[in-house]
Amino acid sequence: MMKSGIITLCLALCLTVAVTASSDSNNYYYGKTKPANLKEEKVTRVCFFLHDILSGQNPSAVRIAHANLTGSEDSPVGFGSLFAIDDPLTVGPEKDSKEIGNGRGMYVSGSKNMDKFMIVMYVDLAFTTGKFNGSSISVFSRNPVAEEPGGREVSIVGGRGKFRMARGFIKIKTHQIDMKTGDAVLRYDATVYHY
Ligand SMILES: *[C@@H]1O[C@H](CO)[C@@H](O)[C@H](O)[C@H]1NC(C)=O
Ligand SMILES: *[C@@H]1O[C@H](CO)[C@@H](O)[C@H](O)[C@H]1NC(C)=O
Repeated sequence: MMKSGIITLCLALCLTVAVTASSDSNNYYYGKTKPANLKEEKVTRVCFFLHDILSGQNPSAVRIAHANLTGSEDSPVGFGSLFAIDDPLTVGPEKDSKEIGNGRGMYVSGSKNMDKFMIVMYVDLAFTTGKFNGSSISVFSRNPVAEEPGGREVSIVGGRGKFRMARGFIKIKTHQIDMKTGDAVLRYDATVYHY
């Protein structure tokens, strides 16, 4: 008797909870949709150099995977090679120039035609000093490396901190490259639209 009484009480409680939850379920995981009233969009130009160093004891770019294709062993940048990067960003092109951030993420060699060498970048460019300390720019884009010398363009698809909701583009020019090692210093000229 006692036992079934407790069970009945439990069932009643459970039902109450279930009913409450279901009557609230319309608002369970999302809030009201309303006009965003975004602030006026601003534009900021950001210019720096990215050092992509594959050689030596302390590389900033490392190959983490590659396709099992003939020749992919001889050519470290062959189609399907995937690199992880933690590349320093500096104000000037010199190695010892003031560091202002880092580019972290990955890029993959994306063209089967090695005459048209290109990479696809999945990279977060973060700043560690100045007005934009703690903010970053998200790049997801193909980077048609072989389309020099006019400079190539990659797209900015988002950002963090002061660059929240960013969009825009970056003109990239190779400042210096060592064809043997692949070590490169690249000039990044970013036009960032943000709020
Ligand atoms: C790589 O390719 C070669 C030749 O096609 C094949 O014999 C070998 O088993 C492959 N290795 C792996 C790990 O798939
Ligand atoms: C950048 O921000 C970090 C985290 O807030 C802080 O620790 C650091 O001192 C700042 N650096 C500069 C140079 O402002």
